[in-house]
Amino acid sequence: MNITTDQQAFDALKKLAAEAKIDVAGAKVRRSSSRFCLGVEHGDYNGTELFGVGTDRFIWMAYKPNGTSKMRLFSGNFTGDGVVEFELGHVPAPKSVEVADTWARFPLGVEYILRREGLTLTQGIDAVLIGNIPGGGMSRSASLSLNLILSVLDANGIAAPDMMQVVDLAQMVENDYIGSPCGKLDQIMIAFAKAGMGTHYKPADRSIDYVPLGAGAKDFRIVVMDTGTVRPGLEKSTYKVRRAECEELVIKAQHAGFDISCLADVRDPILFDNINAKFVKDAPHLVARMDYIYNAQKRFYQMMDAWKAGDIETVGRIFRQDGIGLRDDYAISGPELETMCDIVRTVPGVLGERMLGGGDKGAAGALVLADNADAVKQAVDTGYPRSRPAFADKYAVHTCKVVDGINLFENVF
Ligand code: GLA
Repeated sequence: MNITTDQQAFDALKKLAAEAKIDVAGAKVRRSSSRFCLGVEHGDYNGTELFGVGTDRFIWMAYKPNGTSKMRLFSGNFTGDGVVEFELGHVPAPKSVEVADTWARFPLGVEYILRREGLTLTQGIDAVLIGNIPGGGMSRSASLSLNLILSVLDANGIAAPDMMQVVDLAQMVENDYIGSPCGKLDQIMIAFAKAGMGTHYKPADRSIDYVPLGAGAKDFRIVVMDTGTVRPGLEKSTYKVRRAECEELVIKAQHAGFDISCLADVRDPILFDNINAKFVKDAPHLVARMDYIYNAQKRFYQMMDAWKAGDIETVGRIFRQDGIGLRDDYAISGPELETMCDIVRTVPGVLGERMLGGGDKGAAGALVLADNADAVKQAVDTGYPRSRPAFADKYAVHTCKVVDGINLFENVF
């Protein structure tokens, strides 16, 4: 199903509701976006500042309280899982194998975490969902978790805690119930996203600033190149290994007397050189991870200045340098992701390109001058099926706009 407008999504939800015999008359619809990270990719669990935007690939969920203590949800993206039904207060234990392969783990996890955190639900909901966020790279799981949390709290008449706490709850659903070791980047960039703005997050005081793209910026597009590959959960990916490596280096450095609590603390060039000298012989791979974070963090501030100045070319150039660091030092990219990057790198008007998100598989992204977005799609359509025939009928190119993260529609049905 190719959904490109809210109205198409509403129509699809209506059909799904009829198919699943779920009553959505009078239901509200909550729309949650995807996200595009401009930096520092893999910086969230290393303690760096973050910058990103909401993008116009969404999950739409129609929901209303059903007057019982039973949850009933049907997803148009996972129709094979049927209607997910469960009693509030009766969900499988966290990380249960019985739910590991179904999307039901998200609503189950939301119920579990809200109860654990003292926001116990008493009112079941009837809900149907549909989404057009590709898996891997655009934060489909964070979008779903946020949407479910905000919607079930609303249906229960529980005032949502402040948005940063909702971010924490959504991360708990993934970390504690599902078992994915994700950070908070995705949740933050979706929960706070505003149309036309970049969201700047500072971990030191957990603050959010909005940064408009500076005047005089050339019109550009965010292009997401979904490789058609399927990425298993982060817990089964290189992601988990990289997180552990970064933590390992921090601990080793602390034992050697360096005063750091995360890799983002390595900002001073002398400190960087000293840690480098100490570990490069025995643990060159760990030092390479630090290299990426150190340089990407340095570039981050240049990128912020460029964004404010409307210098989108520099933003793109830094995006490209980050991509090379993610590929060579952080070693978190994947062959299909790099094929996409190699194809679009040669297209005039492409300012920068790199892998996106968790890594290994999923989607790569590019910053492209608006007039050249079609040329990027053509280049991928020509090159990618030749390089990766196994994915010739699975890949997709999405040209995205910068949008609000969370929207609520009432009086739709
Ligand atoms: C995934 C994780 C995020 C973040 C990114 C990499 O999307 O869910 O927490 O670490 O990878 O930047």
